[in-house]
Amino acid sequence: MSSFVGGSVELESAPALPMLPSIRSPELSIVVPTFNERPNVPLLVEKLRLALAGIEWEVIFVDDDSTDGTMGLVRRIASSDNRVRGIRRVGRRGLSGACVEGILSSSARFVAVMDGDLQHDEKCLPAMLHILREDKADVVVASRFGESGQHRQGLSQTRSLGSRFAIRIAQTFLRVTVSDPMSGFFMLRREIVDTVAPRLSQQGFKILLDLLASSCGSLRVEEVPFVFRARIHGESKLDLSVVMEYLGLVVAKASGDLVSLRFLSFGLVGTTGLAVHLAVLRVLLLRGLSFPVAQTVAMLTAMAFNYTLNNLFTYRDMRRRGWRFFTGLAMFAALCSFGVIAGVGVSAMFYESEPRWWLAGLAGAVIGAAWNYVTNSAITWRKR
Ligand code: GDD
Ligand code: MN
Repeated sequence: MSSFVGGSVELESAPALPMLPSIRSPELSIVVPTFNERPNVPLLVEKLRLALAGIEWEVIFVDDDSTDGTMGLVRRIASSDNRVRGIRRVGRRGLSGACVEGILSSSARFVAVMDGDLQHDEKCLPAMLHILREDKADVVVASRFGESGQHRQGLSQTRSLGSRFAIRIAQTFLRVTVSDPMSGFFMLRREIVDTVAPRLSQQGFKILLDLLASSCGSLRVEEVPFVFRARIHGESKLDLSVVMEYLGLVVAKASGDLVSLRFLSFGLVGTTGLAVHLAVLRVLLLRGLSFPVAQTVAMLTAMAFNYTLNNLFTYRDMRRRGWRFFTGLAMFAALCSFGVIAGVGVSAMFYESEPRWWLAGLAGAVIGAAWNYVTNSAITWRKR
């Protein structure tokens, strides 16, 4: 060992050392995304210890800077158990991104992703691992919708219906045949993620669907049913924007990544903004305001509306808060004003060579929207 002290020993010429169990990477990494799951962390680690006896495993908590001290507790447990690790991400949100990051940080042959809120049954893990070890599949999905259909006790009726609808959409548009492509509980060979990682979306909840769709149906998938338990501590983070992101993912993947999730959301916000604009204009005109005044107020209202919604949903991972919210609004308004000029310019040019009003109008709208999207992505919500 003393020959290593100098630190200049070449790896190739180093004498072969006997493998010590403590320095070998584990066979299985369990990646657990967390956001405000403090009370669940020690319970989950304990459950993993029991369920994974006889397996070399580690658990990687990937925490998006929870405010409840989740990470502090992970570190405390890690200090006495080196199978426990934590990654703290700052200034970012996103279940999928957290999972990808955790998986890429692992060197294990197999990785599992599971929720940190105890809704997933850790007792499924050995069976899932067994299927992968035997090379009977590339991915094993723990499905909430197994044969008996009795596996959803943790879902409300609305959630259950919504989930089924979302699954149907995925199956139809992406030709995914898995019964639960929305499951947040699955296991696969790590190298699969290494290959597709650059193509995966960092937003949203649907990492498994994204993995399956991005691998273009080349993966052998096996499913094991499990009972989705009810949540006891903390609350679900699945909200409207997660649903929107999901629909966006389907469109992105169905279009071969031509239409991005963000652009879609930006366009959707723009369309609702148009409705707001027209509604305000109509109300103000009915109240007797002159057209220029009503139009100005309507435009400003729509702009503020669009900005707020984009900040909430389209760029939720880079959301501007506090005073930055207002400086962002000024940037957005300035950039969109240029967008209007560019759009009018293009449609006028278009109309001259091809005098069809709707085509020219459409061309102007597309150019304006593209300008707004590109410049606001690069300036107002640039990555810091
Ligand atoms: N790091 C990180 N960042 N973790 C997050 C984030 C985030 O932005 N949002 C949620 N999580 C963590 C939670 O702390 C929890 O451990 C896990 O991800 C699942 O989140 P929940 O908020 O409990 O999701 P759910 O129970 O409503 O949704 C479940 O069912 C969905 C299908 O309907 C999950 O299993 C989803 O993965 C699944 O798609
Ligand atoms: Mn949950």
